[in-house]
Amino acid sequence: MSDTKSGNQMWGGRFVTGPDEVMEEINASIDFDKILYAQDIAGSKAHGRMLVKQGIISADDGKAILTGLDTILSEIEAGQFKFSRALEDIHMNIESRLAELIGDAAGRLHTARSRNDQIALDFRLWVKQTMLQIDEQLVMLIGSLLDKADVHKETLMPGFTHLQTAQPVTFGHHCMAYVEMFGRDLSRIRDGLERLDECPLGAAALAGTGFAIDRHITCGELGFREPTRNSLDSVSDRDFGLEFLSIASICAVHLSRMAEEFVIWSTPQFNFVSLSDRFSTGSSIMPQKKNPDAAELVRAKTGRINGSLIGLLTVMKGLPLAYSKDMQEDKESVFDAAASLRLAIAAMHGMISDSTINKQEMQKAAGSGYSIATDLADWLVREAGIPFRQAHHVTGRAVALAETKQCGLEELSLADLKGIEERIEQSVFDVLSVENSVKSRRSFGGTAPQNVESQISYWRDRLGN
Ligand code: ARG
Repeated sequence: MSDTKSGNQMWGGRFVTGPDEVMEEINASIDFDKILYAQDIAGSKAHGRMLVKQGIISADDGKAILTGLDTILSEIEAGQFKFSRALEDIHMNIESRLAELIGDAAGRLHTARSRNDQIALDFRLWVKQTMLQIDEQLVMLIGSLLDKADVHKETLMPGFTHLQTAQPVTFGHHCMAYVEMFGRDLSRIRDGLERLDECPLGAAALAGTGFAIDRHITCGELGFREPTRNSLDSVSDRDFGLEFLSIASICAVHLSRMAEEFVIWSTPQFNFVSLSDRFSTGSSIMPQKKNPDAAELVRAKTGRINGSLIGLLTVMKGLPLAYSKDMQEDKESVFDAAASLRLAIAAMHGMISDSTINKQEMQKAAGSGYSIATDLADWLVREAGIPFRQAHHVTGRAVALAETKQCGLEELSLADLKGIEERIEQSVFDVLSVENSVKSRRSFGGTAPQNVESQISYWRDRLGN
């Protein structure tokens, strides 16, 4: 079978002339949807087998179809398949090749099916598989953060608000904050997978079909939980793509925030972390430089991923039911976002696992900036019965005095402190240390090493690792 003058062999019956070159260019999706070949063939095989079971096509035709589809699969995988733009998309490229291989029987495969439910299926299968891969990657990333947290549950560092030193925390606690974020991403992936798990195949063009198909058979064979319930919605729904992009965007934002911290921490000014040679680059002009390019690119990929979400939301906005060709524009953004996210997680994972935490520097910084001021205020409340607001004021004066003396709060003398508030006793010095400050923060979710430890076991249990 070859293309006729009237255009596409698959639908050209009522056409007198073929498409304009520009029409072909705007219409063809094969350049990007060929990535869906495995899903398309899996869907066709399930559909073909079901048609035989239901007595809609003969067993012989069914056999020829399945053998032909397997041949096509190996041709594509061997790089021997010739994709044609004139055949628009992956569905028609495959069907046309099937006709070359097995003749007229190929034409029976499209009984009780449309490209509309076909693409809805292929794309869903692809997104599902991708989400499962990202699930695995997130579990690995969280695993390496848990390992870091475990090693550093007592490593002191400054905690920041407004990027100003606030109160000391442990680096383990900081790692566990990201575990919480990526843990939520993971739960969003799993939750999204639940909703996605419906099979649209058999919705046909938009209204279902008069043939006695069994959608439960194809659904089961393709590994979905249940068939979609409304044929119009089945071919026009791209929520699974939108949900994936939303989840990807939030996850990318988390990665980007972490990347930003690594960018800051790896500066000579901070020097909290040293990036490995494997995950940094040099400058072609400044020999001393080691640049955190991996982190910067992770930060930048977020722009692409967020852009994809806005892109697809805008494509879908205002589309009437059911299928419209606009929806062909759903794929590239999802493919691009998925590739970007997968790469970003992999880069982040590698960069973190490979980096060295400079404990000394972190510890030194943990005590700077009067980070234990709150501990002094808390002591005044606890031991001297002073209301917190007043204690805050007293502590502020102590900080001002230490600032004039250019020393730490713990370096002020008892007499200095008594000069500000006479109820202060020698025992105040017990709380004026970074270690004790951190150890004392045992409230649920607080930074104390024992809390970090129990949070690590919580996540290990939850993830089974
Ligand atoms: N290439 C199309 C897409 O990606 C497949 C569905 C085409 N359906 C149609 N009725 N033209 O959406």
